[in-house]
Amino acid sequence: AATRTFSIIKPDATRRNLTGAVTKMLEDGGLRVVASRRIHLTKDQAEDFYGVHRERPFFNDLVAFMTSGPVVVQVLEGENAMQRNRDIMGATNPANAEPGTIRKELAESIEANSVHGSDSDENAATEIAFFFKPEEIVG
Ligand code: CMP
Repeated sequence: AATRTFSIIKPDATRRNLTGAVTKMLEDGGLRVVASRRIHLTKDQAEDFYGVHRERPFFNDLVAFMTSGPVVVQVLEGENAMQRNRDIMGATNPANAEPGTIRKELAESIEANSVHGSDSDENAATEIAFFFKPEEIVG
């Protein structure tokens, strides 16, 4: 059965006008955008969203980057959506990502890596609820 996951098109991608290119790769990979909103994250939102990384050395840079420009938050639906999206994105560091993945083809660096995707079904549910009300998701 189809499941859902959460995605962010990051500021490096919106800045380079790659929202459509990223979305096409997601769609070509078998995912459907069932909710989407372009927003500018506040510092509080970014810190809260990435709270699990608070103790990491890259946390402040990550928050600064994620608030440096617009992002597009999306809910994606498809067969095995969380794992499918991770396969389409490729490894966190574009240097390690497989050819044909979003991060290999489009990302600039491990920080400016164009997309975020949930790393478990449990986190997907939490992250979807962080940004979307149930009635904003139209499958
Ligand atoms: P994301 O999936 O959005 O989750 C946390 C983000 O931190 C990750 O993608 C990277 O873009 C970013 N990041 C920056 N530096 C590092 C690092 N050294 N290791 C892992 N993630 C990093």
